[in-house]
Amino acid sequence: MTIRVGVVGLGMGRYHMERYQANEQVELVALCDLDQKLLDRFKGTCPKASTYTDYQEMFAAANLDAVSIALPNVLHAEVTIAALRAGMHVLCEKPMAVNAQQAKQMLLASQETGKKLMIHFNYRFSPSAQFFKRYVDEGNLGQIYYAKTQWLRARGIPKLGGWFGIKAMSGGGPMIDLGVHRLDLALWAMGYPKAVAVSASGFNLLGARLAKASQARYDVEDMLTALVRLENGITLNLEVSWAGGTDKREDMLTAIYGTDGAAIQRNTGEGYEFEAFGLRDVAGSLVKVTPHIYPHQCPSAVDHFVNCVINDLAPEASAENGLELMRIIDAIYLSAAEGREVRLDEQQ
Ligand SMILES: NC(=O)c1ccc[n+]([C@@H]2O[C@H](COP(=O)([O-])OP(=O)(O)OC[C@H]3O[C@@H](n4cnc5c(N)ncnc54)[C@H](O)[C@@H]3O)[C@@H](O)[C@H]2O)c1
Repeated sequence: MTIRVGVVGLGMGRYHMERYQANEQVELVALCDLDQKLLDRFKGTCPKASTYTDYQEMFAAANLDAVSIALPNVLHAEVTIAALRAGMHVLCEKPMAVNAQQAKQMLLASQETGKKLMIHFNYRFSPSAQFFKRYVDEGNLGQIYYAKTQWLRARGIPKLGGWFGIKAMSGGGPMIDLGVHRLDLALWAMGYPKAVAVSASGFNLLGARLAKASQARYDVEDMLTALVRLENGITLNLEVSWAGGTDKREDMLTAIYGTDGAAIQRNTGEGYEFEAFGLRDVAGSLVKVTPHIYPHQCPSAVDHFVNCVINDLAPEASAENGLELMRIIDAIYLSAAEGREVRLDEQQ
């Protein structure tokens, strides 16, 4: 069996295209972007696909089973809901939306239409992340009480002057862009405990300076730190930046601490190579438990989505998880703006 798939937005969407093209159960038959030059360029690598500059036209004409949405964050809700209502399963890029209210509408549309909605938390789908989760799931940590998660960049504002730095289009800075991945990884590994309260501080000092030097518009944080209190007495410490005092280009770490040891997942150099390991008390010493990970042992997020559509399975990176993250992120931004702790039950 094969399914007919389309992609809307050909920035990050080109990664979705590549994964779909490599999947024998997929026919990539439709591409959409406002930028005709991008469409012409990718039409060359994907001759079977029809191209569109209007997503509504594509949804009406292309007879699709499923679609990937890789648009600026502010468009995720509108286009996802339109796709679900037009009868497609949706793989939507992260963050799910720019706030929880929009994310809730997306979840409701998925429930009402009976169509699947997966959020592209692709960092779950690496062998190191899979080991990390399983090490925690199998109870190796004892009682979990603390976690920390971070994604710091020394200097890495994406496309300075573009939509990422404009709150009305992105919903925020590194918190909603990078932090959403690392927050997801920490919560996913712990089985998504509910957040009770958050206390956060956000800064826009370096970002404002860099933007001024390039005469770019920029009104989001460049760095943010938050303390998130979770149910069961677990505390999660989060740090994110697009510009800050780290000596690495990309500095990612998620660690979970328990009474019997810890689990850690992090990038090894300055880019996107990862490792995961456990720490446990053995014979009176703290021992590092390092898995022997074979490459290509787990499917990509896109392959997982395709499998869920074909075999009618619930996607692992669910819309419920996406909404929970947006509730926490809303509370984090409110806390940072008002300089106080925000309880999640204050939020809708
Ligand atoms: N999962 C990841 O690792 C990852 C990595 C990068 C980006 N992303 C996410 O992907 C999304 C897109 O980010 P990006 O870096 O590709 O941005 P981008 O600006 O490079 O690409 C967005 C594309 O959407 C097109 N577009 C804008 N409005 C449109 C409309 N109304 N109809 C059709 N096309 C339209 C633009 O022309 C552009 O080509 C964001 O939500 C971002 O957070 C995820």
